[in-house]
Amino acid sequence: MSELAPCVFVLFGATGDLTKRKLAPALYALHREKLLPESFAILAYARRDKDDATFREDMRAAVKEFAPKMPTEGKEWDSFASRLYYQKGDFDKPDGYKGLAERLTELDAERQTPCNRLFYMAIPPEQYETVIEQLGKAKLSKTTPGCGAWTRVIIEKPFGYDLDTSRHLNDTLSSFFDEDQIYRIDHYLGKETVQNILVFRFANELFEPLWNHKYIDHVQITVAEKIGVEGRGNYFDTSGIARDMLQNHAMQILSLVAMEPPVSLDANAVRDEKVKAVRAIRPISKEEVPHMTVRGQYSGYRTEEGVEPGSITETYAALKLHVDNWRWAGTPFFVRAGKALPSRVTEIAVQFKSIPQVLFNKMKRDNIRPNVLVMRIQPDEGIHLVIGAKEPGPAMNLAPVDLSFSYREAFPKAAITDAYERLLLDAIRGDASLFTRGDEVQASWALLTPILEAWREQGRDVQPYFTNTWGPERAESFLGEGRTWREP
Ligand code: BG6
Repeated sequence: MSELAPCVFVLFGATGDLTKRKLAPALYALHREKLLPESFAILAYARRDKDDATFREDMRAAVKEFAPKMPTEGKEWDSFASRLYYQKGDFDKPDGYKGLAERLTELDAERQTPCNRLFYMAIPPEQYETVIEQLGKAKLSKTTPGCGAWTRVIIEKPFGYDLDTSRHLNDTLSSFFDEDQIYRIDHYLGKETVQNILVFRFANELFEPLWNHKYIDHVQITVAEKIGVEGRGNYFDTSGIARDMLQNHAMQILSLVAMEPPVSLDANAVRDEKVKAVRAIRPISKEEVPHMTVRGQYSGYRTEEGVEPGSITETYAALKLHVDNWRWAGTPFFVRAGKALPSRVTEIAVQFKSIPQVLFNKMKRDNIRPNVLVMRIQPDEGIHLVIGAKEPGPAMNLAPVDLSFSYREAFPKAAITDAYERLLLDAIRGDASLFTRGDEVQASWALLTPILEAWREQGRDVQPYFTNTWGPERAESFLGEGRTWREP
């Protein structure tokens, strides 16, 4: 077992989808890899009438369904199951939290977990503030005097619904927890390849000198999914793709691409630079929204379960963003996210400028394609640099070729760690670098909220697109100036 400090992982929302799909498999995988602290317990707190044994069976069923490669019989499972406990209680009743505090004290004695606590909010976002307040009022949000070194809280996106609600959530959080106790998960930051953006930029001398408006024409960030709303119509219809993927995942990627080098890899040093980059993005006023954004809806969306028949919620959105600082002045960032697109792919395409002068006979400037650097976040994780090469033969013809690095080929033995495993482990060890800070969240909402409001006011302008296509027609011409979206 690892050397990590003993602790109890308190899971709010033990019966929800997130627990089943992500947390149960991630916690069990960490247990199997012997990465969890030796003294460690998971205490679920939820409304339903259950006991430890039923909760253990629920977790087994979840792992079986969502991570079927891991065996759920035998010693390994039994030792994991023996760390699982259940405490019944309401989210909004002080009595429940009294019971929770007592149970934690019992567990501390039974499992030698001296008052270090990690509270995980795997609950619907409407309930975050209730639980946070109740934890605070029950004095569970602070470290117990004379016992334990830390108390942390992990919350999942969405962090609010717009700027006002995100501020409200931040205020509630900071009434009871200090910022360094709060771990806001954006699971994209847990992806290896997202972390590799920093390594690529700051551990290689080659690219950083070119990483600016002098050499880069524009940057495209694509977060595309093939699936539609897949049974999550109820949630999605009140959210839309901009809230679901742009405000968080895409903006996190953008900030890592656009940021200045941090002074160190300390969590706050990195986040200081990320938030500066987001703050440097020129706000899009409501009047500019029609030409700086595109929003679309896939055909058939309105008949999905849970979706309003007249819904104008967007399932595709694209933004044109200008990062107004010395590095990026004049180099736009195009960001798009969508569902029901031709493939599931997340990538960053850095499009370099054209060469200044054409030397090769009979060739027009247009025949020489500018270099593109593609950072593929998922799937087929890797990096590709498209360069021009001479086609073999007597004529001087050029063709684009690929210099490629593939994660799977370069590291054939290493499995890519699941984002949740990485993030849970970091929260247990107290490393917040891959978690979003409150000011980052607000900076990103400050940018997005006027756009969302303008969309709402402009009502019906959501443009249809067929499933399996790259969004509405207008997305095609959106880039302007002869630029086109890369087809991943
Ligand atoms: C979630 C969104 O944050 O990310 C989902 O709510 C989306 O709508 C998911 O499907 C995509 O995550 P991943 O890791 O599969 O790219």
